[in-house]
Amino acid sequence: MSADSYQPKRLLVTGGAGFIGSNFVHYLIESTDVEVVVLDALTYAGNLANLAPVAEHPRYAFVHADIRDKAKMIEVMRTHRIDAVAHLAAESHVDRSITGPAVFVETNVLGTLNLLQAARETGVQRFLQVGTDEVYGSLGPTGRFSETTPLDPHSPYSASKAAADHLVSAFWHTYEFPTLITRCSNNYGPYQFPEKMIPLMINNARQDKPLPVYGDGLNVRDWLYVHDHCSALWGVLTRGRPGSVYNIGGDSERTNVEVVREILRLVGKPERLITFVADRPGHDRRYAIDASKIASELGWRPTVTFEEGLARTVAWYRDHADWLEQIVSGEYQKYYEQMYGQRGAAR
Ligand code: NAD
Ligand code: TYD
Repeated sequence: MSADSYQPKRLLVTGGAGFIGSNFVHYLIESTDVEVVVLDALTYAGNLANLAPVAEHPRYAFVHADIRDKAKMIEVMRTHRIDAVAHLAAESHVDRSITGPAVFVETNVLGTLNLLQAARETGVQRFLQVGTDEVYGSLGPTGRFSETTPLDPHSPYSASKAAADHLVSAFWHTYEFPTLITRCSNNYGPYQFPEKMIPLMINNARQDKPLPVYGDGLNVRDWLYVHDHCSALWGVLTRGRPGSVYNIGGDSERTNVEVVREILRLVGKPERLITFVADRPGHDRRYAIDASKIASELGWRPTVTFEEGLARTVAWYRDHADWLEQIVSGEYQKYYEQMYGQRGAAR
């Protein structure tokens, strides 16, 4: 049974200029009445162009700030009278965490602690931690991750996300601070930064560049179209039981090489572009989510099949060649200066 519905009035969305965050903000503006305050440091992964369609909306505001700055978090929550937080800001790319893990701990662990403390101090009533299935580690050919699967992270990225989840859970148990944790499988869709597998492969295919598949290409991910993730997040925030964890998954397991072949078919390019390259160190073999809890408690299910979602995604990147070009050239980082003047550091 879910708790009584909770309707936030002013929701702070951290990381709202990133991939999932910006899709979530569009969802919130289109499908709910909540006032949305986006907080983002605009790292390489944050892009205000992702939020341009809602920039003038009366229920939307943007704050340029860094979650590593606790005093600033308190100030923002007080100034905007925030009553709920959806925390998506993170360093999110596994490969970057292998070459530079420290910032993953600073942002994902200490940043989350800052937000928890600021939220508790300012009387926030719901704190949604947007987590990843990667905290559970790697599966063999069978089985799925459930909410009770022990955490066994393998990359600096997933280790930092697991540490953050533990802190969130500790705030519930220690202070009865009303937290919720989601753990979602791999997302894909509009506005995803082209360092992640699906947009990277689409971009390379469009330019007739090699598609670099790690190892034997038989690693399995459970893909979820980002819009379905957004509806799940809103469901958990408003109807989830405080103190609970909810897995979110697409029920769409595919090997990487299957995904890449399908992208080539959709873009209309030959399979000879597939290039097998050295494997990622510590590369998790398989992720698969058991999402039966969110289905039975909140009635959430994915609505977009992988074939439909991938076709939509390829079409979106085709129709937004300017967006992709700005990212690849780094031009998007000038967007902030045009909108707000000098970019500068967020803290
Ligand atoms: P992303 O990298 O596209 O976006 C992250 C956003 O956080 C960016 O806008 C960036 O500027 C911002 N940010 C980074 N450091 C910050 C800081 N110190 N202060 C303020 N803002 C900062 O990531 P994403 O793919 O949209 O993922 C969002 C969240 O969802 C992350 O917490 C991630 O762990 C989680 N998640 C992602 C996936 C996925 O498949 N992408 C799956 C499950 C969970
Ligand atoms: P990625 O999008 O980085 O997500 P995650 O590592 O968080 O699951 O990668 C998805 C899968 O694709 C993963 O098994 C690694 C693989 N991959 C490649 O084969 N080549 C690439 O260039 C990238 C970025 C990923």
